[in-house]
Amino acid sequence: MNEYTFIFLGTAFTSQAPEQVAILEDHLFCVNANGIIEKIIAPNDAEYQLFLDSYEGTKNFHRLAEGQYILPGFVDLHVHAPQWAQSGTALDRPLHDWLHTYTFPLEAKFSNLDFATDVYEDLVQTLLSNGTTTALYFATVHKEASLLLAEICAKKGQRGLIGKVVMDDPEQNPDYYRDFDTITALKDTEEFILAVKNLGETVKQGVYPVVTPRFIPSCTDEALKGLGELAEKYDTHIQSHCSESDWEHQYVHGRYGKNDAFALHQFGLLGDKSVMAHCNFLSDQDAALFAKTGTAIGHCPLSNAYFANSVIPIKRFKGLGIDIGLGTDISAGATPSIYDNAKQAVISSRMLEDGVNAELPAEERGVPNSRLTMNDAFYFATAGGGESLSLPIGRIEENYAWDVQIIDTKVPTTKLPIFDPNEDLYDIFQKIIYNVRPENIREVWVQGERVHAR
Ligand code: GUN
Ligand code: FE
Repeated sequence: MNEYTFIFLGTAFTSQAPEQVAILEDHLFCVNANGIIEKIIAPNDAEYQLFLDSYEGTKNFHRLAEGQYILPGFVDLHVHAPQWAQSGTALDRPLHDWLHTYTFPLEAKFSNLDFATDVYEDLVQTLLSNGTTTALYFATVHKEASLLLAEICAKKGQRGLIGKVVMDDPEQNPDYYRDFDTITALKDTEEFILAVKNLGETVKQGVYPVVTPRFIPSCTDEALKGLGELAEKYDTHIQSHCSESDWEHQYVHGRYGKNDAFALHQFGLLGDKSVMAHCNFLSDQDAALFAKTGTAIGHCPLSNAYFANSVIPIKRFKGLGIDIGLGTDISAGATPSIYDNAKQAVISSRMLEDGVNAELPAEERGVPNSRLTMNDAFYFATAGGGESLSLPIGRIEENYAWDVQIIDTKVPTTKLPIFDPNEDLYDIFQKIIYNVRPENIREVWVQGERVHAR
């Protein structure tokens, strides 16, 4: 019984399926030296009392105070780390204009490692303090600064999946911000993969390299093909933007006579470890290809509202068997919080279902059966994110990583509206998701290590 590094006693909420939130009331959570949940014991299990008697009072035993609850850490499937420095800027501009006027000039500054250190340290800490325990990052085209982001994740204890961005096409990218040429883009990517893999071997929670063509318009065919080959050679994750905005979608169609999904597939860029951001304009065939290849969607509902003027039919895509998680898409979404994106996912889906034309009967005003519930959104924020990355994270379940956020509903300055200790636990869960503030996130743990406390 002494093999556990620590044991928590408390009430946890975790997703079991998109519609289903499990409430583990007053359970014991036993975590081993590798930071894995090895055993969960319910109060009516025969060994419960035995465990309590032998661990209670020891330094490895943590009993949550009244009003505190355990949630899985969140998975953010789409973050542009450098863009944290411009969060909230120029969101009224169209995507192409925003990229060239604001975003590329900002990202170019990450050749300066001091600047990169300041932004990346602050972002990783901010994400952790918002409950995000795993993040899938776009860095910039710079190999050194991208590696620096991996090192900062490693040091701060976040599980980071990091991509050096590839933008090699001189016709499409500004001279001040692109890869020097295709050969250099591929060479830098390969060196980056090897360096991050090396680093990852020394990091308990894992850091991983990600093959990252920014999006099809920024890359030559040679680069896309080379990146597909590198991903296969080193068995890495892959990320990009897919069918995001009207102009981007049209551009790809003009170049290949097919949609992004099939274009990415021809270069070997779809698969079980691929996560594609946005996917607003997937056709049924594209969606079937995603499901068949195991490619996941990084759903960014806030960003989609700004740059795609679009609500993606997430419910339908989930029904087709596609893995789905949530992304902030910093800075096209101006919040570091997956809570904000979970709420927006629900709100946007209801707008898709119920359009505004009051002249029409209700069932003709939108797309029926589009609504997501908060249970769905919570699933995407946690278990769905883990499935999308093919990692054992996002659930409070045996054999999953102890990646959790301890929510304190009673922080004096930001007390959540939970006054009645006898309130239904499922109601408390919903109140937490809708009302929580970073001040309520008392502790954050990744792979059995406490990485944030307030
Ligand atoms: N498409 C290509 N680059 C970007 C980016 O930085 N943000 C968003 N939202 N879309 C993109
Ligand atoms: Fe993006």
